[in-house]
Amino acid sequence: MTEAETILEVRHLKQYFGKRDFKAVDDVSFTVRKGEVVGIVGESGCGKTTTGRSIIRLNKATSGDVYFKGQRIVAGTRSYTDAIAHAKVDARQRVQELRRAGDAKAVREERARLKAFVAEQRAQIRAAHRDHKHCVKLYRKRLQKEINELYDEKEKTAAPAELAELSAQRRARLKEAAGENIVTKIQMIFQDPIASLDPRMTVREIIAEGLRIQGIRDSAYIDGKVFEMLERVGLVKEHAGRYPHEFSGGQRQRIGIARAIIMNPELIIADEPVSALDVSIQAQVINLLNELRQEMGLTILFIAHDLSVVKYFSDRIIVMYFGKIVEIADSDELFAHPLHPYTRSLLSAIPLPNPHYEKKRKRMIYVPSEAHDYSREQPELREIAPGHFVSCNRQEMEIYQRKLGKSCDGKGT
Ligand SMILES: Nc1ncnc2c1ncn2[C@@H]1O[C@H](COP(=O)(O)OP(=O)(O)OP(=O)(O)O)[C@@H](O)[C@H]1O
Ligand SMILES: [Mg+2]
Repeated sequence: MTEAETILEVRHLKQYFGKRDFKAVDDVSFTVRKGEVVGIVGESGCGKTTTGRSIIRLNKATSGDVYFKGQRIVAGTRSYTDAIAHAKVDARQRVQELRRAGDAKAVREERARLKAFVAEQRAQIRAAHRDHKHCVKLYRKRLQKEINELYDEKEKTAAPAELAELSAQRRARLKEAAGENIVTKIQMIFQDPIASLDPRMTVREIIAEGLRIQGIRDSAYIDGKVFEMLERVGLVKEHAGRYPHEFSGGQRQRIGIARAIIMNPELIIADEPVSALDVSIQAQVINLLNELRQEMGLTILFIAHDLSVVKYFSDRIIVMYFGKIVEIADSDELFAHPLHPYTRSLLSAIPLPNPHYEKKRKRMIYVPSEAHDYSREQPELREIAPGHFVSCNRQEMEIYQRKLGKSCDGKGT
């Protein structure tokens, strides 16, 4: 089996807020493959929405990078400014020591080393600013280069009669690439369907907003698109002239979905799209997302606060706790072999359909200070089995591996 290409890569993302640097997202790294549905779960306030908002650049990331389709679209700079500050403190201390020892040559070397290091970090900061500001243009350039290379190659071996056709194809694709906007290829469906829809705007205006921002003014085209999207999400074109308050919760969420898919996205970040809805309506909205996923070949990052919602929908699940990732695994694997005590506590919160087992279900409460002893070694995200990552130190890793080994032996695999 060939691995599907990576569409999104989040590297060491940190999102701090306020003067005191409240760490809403604290060094989060993960990848999403094209066509996958990845669930992010964790309790209220653990940083799920913030992660989504930082990816789509609604927050200015403090530190870390986000790559989408190979293009860096988010680049925080704090890690570089911190590195400069630390290097300066260290160098000052060493220079003082060397001066005391009277080693003038070593002092000069130390200063030169610091200068080179600072220059290198500043170059990284400039590159980060450049990518943040110009990612749309940079991505277009890359696409155009790839198209030109492809057609140069094709023309080399083509028969003379085919050249005109190839040249027309090249022009058409270059034109398309010139209009590509990588940033709008990620769309978010927001958590609160009431707060996220402007009450003073009609449904038509809400759904068409993204197109207008892109500079499209042709109202017949816009209306056609809006009607098409309304039908696609299970509403009707007569709804276009109404206001958000005239709709039910489930319908409002459909409007939010229409607003996202009109931009023809490749990645959708669905932030608790069904949490505010009745159970029966939840299934309808999830089914709609599933249909759209298949029709449009979408990749979905699905945020939820409990595991039961993401279980059937996600290929992989990321579990977050207080701004950090504590476990990542394939959905089935996570349910069969949850390793981190926080994941286990989340699982213990899901009611069981069988009343006999439900009676015996024990709710586990996760208390970090009781669950771990990190006095000697801090945890980091480690791969316990292929594709199964858990935040742990080496001692815990051994325990987890033994546990997995045993449960796998038990199944005869
Ligand atoms: N703009 C902001 N300024 C200051 N603090 C913020 C900001 N945005 C989020 N936070 C804080 O960051 C933390 C994470 O918030 P976030 O909305 O990401 O949580 P969540 O996991 O989505 O929770 P929920 O399940 O309730 O939606 C919270 O403590 C929140 O108060
Ligand atoms: Mg949230």
